[in-house]
Amino acid sequence: MKAKFITLDGIDGAGKSTNLAVIREWFEARALPVVFTREPGGTALGEALREILLNPATHAGLRAETLLMFAARRQHLEDVILPNLANGVNVVSDRFTDATFAYQGGGRGVETADIEILENWVQQGFQPDLTLLLDVPLEVSLARISASREKDRFEQEEADFFTRVRTVYLQRAAAAPARYAVIDSNRDKAVVKAEIEAVLSARLLGE
Ligand SMILES: Nc1ncnc2c1ncn2[C@@H]1O[C@H](COP(=O)(O)OP(=O)(O)OP(=O)(O)O)[C@@H](O)[C@H]1O
Ligand SMILES: [Mg+2]
Repeated sequence: MKAKFITLDGIDGAGKSTNLAVIREWFEARALPVVFTREPGGTALGEALREILLNPATHAGLRAETLLMFAARRQHLEDVILPNLANGVNVVSDRFTDATFAYQGGGRGVETADIEILENWVQQGFQPDLTLLLDVPLEVSLARISASREKDRFEQEEADFFTRVRTVYLQRAAAAPARYAVIDSNRDKAVVKAEIEAVLSARLLGE
């Protein structure tokens, strides 16, 4: 199997980190090489930018924020994603460009066409092979994040912001069903796990 780039996306608290463990087990059980990474982050530069981007004390306008996301992403592609894929190692990323369309586009109001310009410049046509979109209603997301930790700069936004973010994710998935699998993450963890395993087997191995 040619190495694949798999991304996990969805609103805060949807269960991305939780289900990375499910994906890890799936790859390990089949002895398939894989690395796990995240955005913003994944490199020294990216993790430094992540600190800035998630810090509630940071003041960044919507264009500056979008550029920082793509700066982190370009380094991540060059240093981690593309070299691993070239070496036959699968790459799984906790968030990728869908998050920029959802948060900076839907949430903040950056024009989709402007994000697409940056996407084309930074990715040169490169896209994930598979994106698992974990979807939960807003109330579930809010309940999960407030129960689990202190809120970062994005998590402090108001409910309408997250409604717009979720809507963009769902619209993108509906527009390109070949790339996405939308997973209803508002179910028991074991049920979500079983569905993710089935999606990986079907989409990556044709089983
Ligand atoms: N299916 C589920 N049922 C109940 N609780 C869940 C489920 N999935 C995840 N959770 C819980 O919700 C909280 C948030 O989950 P998690 O950290 O995996 O979300 P996330 O998408 O990674 O969030 P973020 O975007 O903020 O990193 C955790 O406490 C986790 O245990
Ligand atoms: Mg997480």
